[in-house]
Amino acid sequence: MADIKKGLAGVVVDYTAISKVNPETNSLLYRGYPVQELAATQPFEAVAYLMWNGELPTDQQLADLRATERAHRALTPEVKQAIDLLPTSAHPMDEVRTAVSAIGATETAGITNVLDAVGTPEENLERSVRLFAALPAIVAYGQRRRRGEEAVEPRDDLDYAANFLWMTFGEEADPVVVDAFNRSMILYAEHSFNASTFTARVVTSTLSDLYSAVVGAIGALKGPLHGGANEAVLHVFDEIGTADNVAPWLDEALAEKRKIMGFGHRVYKRGDSRVPTMKTALDTLVEHYDRPEVAALYDNLESEFVSRKGIYPNLDYPSGPAYNLMGFDTLTFTPLFVASRITGWTAHIIEQQGDNALIRPLSEYNGPDERHIEGYVPDA
Ligand code: ACO
Repeated sequence: MADIKKGLAGVVVDYTAISKVNPETNSLLYRGYPVQELAATQPFEAVAYLMWNGELPTDQQLADLRATERAHRALTPEVKQAIDLLPTSAHPMDEVRTAVSAIGATETAGITNVLDAVGTPEENLERSVRLFAALPAIVAYGQRRRRGEEAVEPRDDLDYAANFLWMTFGEEADPVVVDAFNRSMILYAEHSFNASTFTARVVTSTLSDLYSAVVGAIGALKGPLHGGANEAVLHVFDEIGTADNVAPWLDEALAEKRKIMGFGHRVYKRGDSRVPTMKTALDTLVEHYDRPEVAALYDNLESEFVSRKGIYPNLDYPSGPAYNLMGFDTLTFTPLFVASRITGWTAHIIEQQGDNALIRPLSEYNGPDERHIEGYVPDA
């Protein structure tokens, strides 16, 4: 019998120089830098640069990236049209997936030979920066469209995080909120061979193009066992209601063998390295908005669940309520994850292209034995 590794658990499939997850030391490094140090000191644009180039930018390199990012912030007519064709009740992850697909179809229009669609490393870096620049407007437009609000044009005088909040809410965000949002973007940016990144690498390994790989990754991220959990955490908070309802709610949920969203991780078994940084950002927001009941519910659910199951929160647990406090609709949370993870995905796509091998594992057949169509006579 073959040695089946269900879910590829514990299987090392390739090298990567982009990030290192170490569950033993509970650490996460992006290109060698601890993520909490990056979150405390860098703007998200600098971390995006690091992801693609392997080093933090000089002042000039950061200014150049910011200039390119600002030049590609606005929604193009094609993308706006593609989104507007969808019902306003469409899930925003479907909207984002459609928008990226529309960008890909537009940017690769005219390529008539499938071998040319893959692009050079330089072209793919430029495509990555343009997607990074376009996603905030796509996410912000989606939320405003669902609320029946007019789109808000980007502001050239604001950095990535401040402009993202501006386009979503139509007002300048408080620096405390901008800082928490910037940190969340950095924490979500990259996490080695997670399900969506691996999907992007599988698509890339067939020599398909970067946009197709990102569309596949968005599909993988949507699921609640992966990125969809940040949305699902808020549904859990809504169900529980108040901190004093945690214990009875948990009794029932565990009796029904429900998975509690925002807890557990395939790699980290003693806590997610990103949680303390995001929890600090959440605490700042709780204080800023004067919403102590959110912290009470968060703390109660965490301590009850950890003491009963010994399973720790993952990044989606603090980021869900943090995005809620900032004013994002619950359905917009996973698209925010996309806007951040586009940096990690595209870095992996470029890395895969640089040393490609078709990803094609084997399976052990366990279906019916060979059988035949009655009356079938093979051609002589
Ligand atoms: N709630 C209840 N039980 C859980 C949870 C949870 N959140 N997570 C794990 N368990 C239990 C499982 O039921 C299983 O118990 P059993 O052995 O008695 O059957 C055991 O712990 C092992 O769980 P698996 O699901 O087999 O472990 P795996 O490594 O595949 O799970 C996963 C990782 C999918 C993330 C899981 O913990 C989960 O479903 N969590 C909830 C969804 C979630 O928060 N996802 C976000 C992931 S992080 C991110 O994308 C940023």
